[in-house]
Amino acid sequence: MTREELLIELESSVKSCHRCGLRDSAAHVVFGEGFSEARLVFIGEGPGAEEDRLGRPFVGAAGQLLDRMLAAMGMDREHHAYILNVVKCRPPGNRTPEPSETASCRPHLEGQLSILDPAIVVLLGATAVKSLINPGMRITRVRGQWIQKDGRWWMPTYHPAALLRNPAWKRDAWSDLKQVIDKYRTLVDPSHDSPHYPRPS
Ligand code: URA
Repeated sequence: MTREELLIELESSVKSCHRCGLRDSAAHVVFGEGFSEARLVFIGEGPGAEEDRLGRPFVGAAGQLLDRMLAAMGMDREHHAYILNVVKCRPPGNRTPEPSETASCRPHLEGQLSILDPAIVVLLGATAVKSLINPGMRITRVRGQWIQKDGRWWMPTYHPAALLRNPAWKRDAWSDLKQVIDKYRTLVDPSHDSPHYPRPS
Protein backbone atom coordinates (compact mmCIF):
# COMPACT_ATOMS: atom_id res chain seq x y z
CA MET A 1 0.00 0.00 0.00
CA THR A 2 1.16 3.56 -0.63
CA ARG A 3 1.54 6.07 2.20
CA GLU A 4 -1.59 7.82 0.95
CA GLU A 5 -3.60 4.59 1.10
CA LEU A 6 -2.28 3.79 4.58
CA LEU A 7 -3.24 7.29 5.77
CA ILE A 8 -6.75 6.94 4.33
CA GLU A 9 -7.12 3.61 6.13
CA LEU A 10 -5.85 5.09 9.43
CA GLU A 11 -8.12 8.13 9.02
CA SER A 12 -11.21 5.97 8.80
CA SER A 13 -10.29 4.17 12.04
CA VAL A 14 -9.43 7.46 13.83
CA LYS A 15 -12.81 8.88 12.76
CA SER A 16 -14.61 6.21 14.75
CA CYS A 17 -12.49 6.76 17.90
CA HIS A 18 -14.19 7.39 21.25
CA ARG A 19 -11.18 6.80 23.51
CA CYS A 20 -11.72 10.11 25.31
CA GLY A 21 -14.58 12.53 25.89
CA LEU A 22 -13.43 15.11 23.32
CA ARG A 23 -15.24 13.33 20.48
CA ASP A 24 -18.61 13.92 22.19
CA SER A 25 -18.50 17.68 21.79
CA ALA A 26 -16.57 17.83 18.48
CA ALA A 27 -18.30 18.29 15.12
CA HIS A 28 -15.41 16.69 13.20
CA VAL A 29 -12.38 14.54 13.87
CA VAL A 30 -9.52 16.56 12.35
CA PHE A 31 -7.10 13.91 11.13
CA GLY A 32 -4.51 16.16 9.46
CA GLU A 33 -3.61 16.89 5.85
CA GLY A 34 -0.78 17.56 3.47
CA PHE A 35 1.62 15.81 1.11
CA SER A 36 1.65 12.12 1.99
CA GLU A 37 5.28 11.76 0.81
CA ALA A 38 6.42 14.79 2.84
CA ARG A 39 9.70 14.42 4.75
CA LEU A 40 8.65 17.40 6.90
CA VAL A 41 5.78 17.37 9.41
CA PHE A 42 4.34 20.19 11.54
CA ILE A 43 2.55 19.26 14.77
CA GLY A 44 0.19 21.66 16.56
CA GLU A 45 -1.98 21.22 19.62
CA GLY A 46 -5.53 20.47 18.57
CA PRO A 47 -8.36 21.78 16.40
CA GLY A 48 -9.92 25.14 17.20
CA ALA A 49 -13.40 26.32 16.25
CA GLU A 50 -12.77 26.76 12.51
CA GLU A 51 -10.88 23.48 12.26
CA ASP A 52 -13.71 21.67 14.07
CA ARG A 53 -16.28 23.26 11.76
CA LEU A 54 -14.41 22.36 8.56
CA GLY A 55 -12.65 19.14 9.61
CA ARG A 56 -9.26 20.47 8.46
CA PRO A 57 -6.16 21.40 10.50
CA PHE A 58 -4.93 24.98 10.84
CA VAL A 59 -7.56 26.80 8.80
CA GLY A 60 -8.40 29.60 11.27
CA ALA A 61 -6.31 32.70 12.01
CA ALA A 62 -3.34 30.66 13.33
CA GLY A 63 -3.57 28.45 10.26
CA GLN A 64 -3.42 31.41 7.94
CA LEU A 65 -0.25 32.50 9.69
CA LEU A 66 1.14 28.96 9.41
CA ASP A 67 0.47 29.09 5.65
CA ARG A 68 2.35 32.41 5.46
CA MET A 69 5.24 30.90 7.43
CA LEU A 70 5.30 27.97 4.98
CA ALA A 71 5.20 30.37 2.02
CA ALA A 72 8.15 32.31 3.45
CA MET A 73 9.99 28.97 3.62
CA GLY A 74 9.15 28.37 -0.08
CA MET A 75 6.73 25.62 0.91
CA ASP A 76 3.06 24.68 0.93
CA ARG A 77 0.89 21.90 2.31
CA GLU A 78 0.39 20.18 -1.03
CA HIS A 79 4.04 19.73 -1.98
CA HIS A 80 6.28 19.89 1.09
CA ALA A 81 4.65 19.24 4.44
CA TYR A 82 2.05 17.31 6.37
CA ILE A 83 0.13 19.09 9.15
CA LEU A 84 -0.94 17.22 12.30
CA ASN A 85 -2.19 17.92 15.79
CA VAL A 86 -1.52 16.21 19.12
CA VAL A 87 -5.27 15.72 19.60
CA LYS A 88 -7.66 15.20 16.72
CA CYS A 89 -10.83 16.52 18.38
CA ARG A 90 -11.42 20.08 19.58
CA PRO A 91 -11.11 20.61 23.32
CA PRO A 92 -14.20 22.61 24.38
CA GLY A 93 -13.57 26.36 24.45
CA ASN A 94 -10.06 25.75 23.04
CA ARG A 95 -8.70 24.73 26.42
CA THR A 96 -5.37 22.93 26.52
CA PRO A 97 -5.92 19.18 26.15
CA GLU A 98 -5.58 17.19 29.38
CA PRO A 99 -2.66 14.73 29.64
CA SER A 100 -5.22 11.90 29.66
CA GLU A 101 -6.63 13.19 26.34
CA THR A 102 -3.23 13.53 24.68
CA ALA A 103 -2.42 10.01 25.93
CA SER A 104 -5.68 8.65 24.48
CA CYS A 105 -4.92 10.24 21.10
CA ARG A 106 -1.25 9.23 21.13
CA PRO A 107 -1.65 5.95 19.19
CA HIS A 108 -3.25 7.93 16.34
CA LEU A 109 -0.34 10.38 16.23
CA GLU A 110 2.20 7.54 16.46
CA GLY A 111 0.38 5.76 13.62
CA GLN A 112 0.57 8.88 11.48
CA LEU A 113 4.27 9.38 12.21
CA SER A 114 5.08 5.78 11.46
CA ILE A 115 3.34 5.97 8.07
CA LEU A 116 4.76 9.37 7.13
CA ASP A 117 8.20 8.61 8.60
CA PRO A 118 9.33 12.24 8.39
CA ALA A 119 12.99 13.21 8.65
CA ILE A 120 12.12 16.58 10.23
CA VAL A 121 9.32 17.45 12.67
CA VAL A 122 8.45 21.01 13.67
CA LEU A 123 6.79 21.09 17.10
CA LEU A 124 4.45 24.07 17.26
CA GLY A 125 4.15 25.22 20.85
CA ALA A 126 4.17 23.84 24.37
CA THR A 127 1.61 21.05 24.02
CA ALA A 128 3.48 19.45 21.10
CA VAL A 129 6.85 19.74 22.86
CA LYS A 130 5.58 18.44 26.19
CA SER A 131 3.66 15.53 24.75
CA LEU A 132 6.22 14.43 22.16
CA ILE A 133 9.52 15.14 23.87
CA ASN A 134 9.28 15.76 27.61
CA PRO A 135 6.45 17.03 29.86
CA GLY A 136 8.95 19.16 31.81
CA MET A 137 10.11 21.18 28.79
CA ARG A 138 9.37 24.89 28.46
CA ILE A 139 8.92 26.11 24.90
CA THR A 140 10.61 29.43 25.69
CA ARG A 141 13.75 27.53 26.78
CA VAL A 142 13.95 24.81 24.15
CA ARG A 143 12.78 26.59 21.01
CA GLY A 144 15.37 26.88 18.29
CA GLN A 145 17.36 23.84 19.46
CA TRP A 146 17.37 20.60 17.49
CA ILE A 147 16.40 17.43 19.32
CA GLN A 148 17.43 14.10 17.78
CA LYS A 149 15.07 11.28 18.69
CA ASP A 150 13.73 8.13 17.00
CA GLY A 151 15.88 8.77 13.93
CA ARG A 152 14.25 12.17 13.32
CA TRP A 153 15.19 15.82 13.82
CA TRP A 154 12.69 17.72 15.97
CA MET A 155 12.59 21.52 16.06
CA PRO A 156 10.49 23.16 18.78
CA THR A 157 9.20 26.63 17.96
CA TYR A 158 6.39 28.96 18.91
CA HIS A 159 2.81 28.08 18.00
CA PRO A 160 1.42 30.49 15.38
CA ALA A 161 -1.41 31.43 17.78
CA ALA A 162 1.27 32.55 20.26
CA LEU A 163 2.89 34.59 17.47
CA LEU A 164 -0.44 36.32 16.82
CA ARG A 165 -0.57 37.27 20.51
CA ASN A 166 3.14 38.20 20.69
CA PRO A 167 4.29 39.52 17.30
CA ALA A 168 7.73 40.35 18.77
CA TRP A 169 8.39 36.58 18.94
CA LYS A 170 8.20 36.30 15.13
CA ARG A 171 11.88 37.14 14.77
CA ASP A 172 12.87 34.10 16.89
CA ALA A 173 10.34 31.90 15.10
CA TRP A 174 11.82 32.86 11.72
CA SER A 175 15.30 32.04 12.95
CA ASP A 176 13.98 28.58 14.01
CA LEU A 177 12.35 28.10 10.59
CA LYS A 178 15.58 29.06 8.82
CA GLN A 179 17.24 26.18 10.70
CA VAL A 180 14.45 23.95 9.40
CA ILE A 181 15.14 25.13 5.84
CA ASP A 182 18.86 24.39 6.33
CA LYS A 183 18.05 20.88 7.55
CA TYR A 184 15.58 20.38 4.68
CA ARG A 185 18.31 21.33 2.21
CA THR A 186 20.73 18.93 3.89
CA LEU A 187 18.40 15.95 4.25
CA VAL A 188 15.69 16.32 1.63
CA ASP A 189 16.31 18.72 -1.26
CA PRO A 190 19.63 20.56 -1.67
CA SER A 191 18.08 22.77 -4.35
CA HIS A 192 15.11 23.91 -2.25
CA ASP A 193 14.45 27.61 -2.80
CA SER A 194 13.01 29.95 -0.20
CA PRO A 195 11.99 33.49 -1.21
CA HIS A 196 13.32 34.94 2.04
CA TYR A 197 16.25 32.64 2.67
CA PRO A 198 18.24 32.05 -0.52
CA ARG A 199 20.70 29.20 -0.81
CA PRO A 200 24.29 30.20 -0.16
CA SER A 201 26.03 30.78 -3.50
N1 URA B 1 -4.21 25.34 16.56
C1 URA B 1 -3.70 24.09 16.55
O1 URA B 1 -2.88 23.73 17.38
N2 URA B 1 -4.10 23.27 15.60
C2 URA B 1 -4.97 23.61 14.66
O2 URA B 1 -5.29 22.77 13.81
C3 URA B 1 -5.47 24.93 14.69
C4 URA B 1 -5.08 25.77 15.65
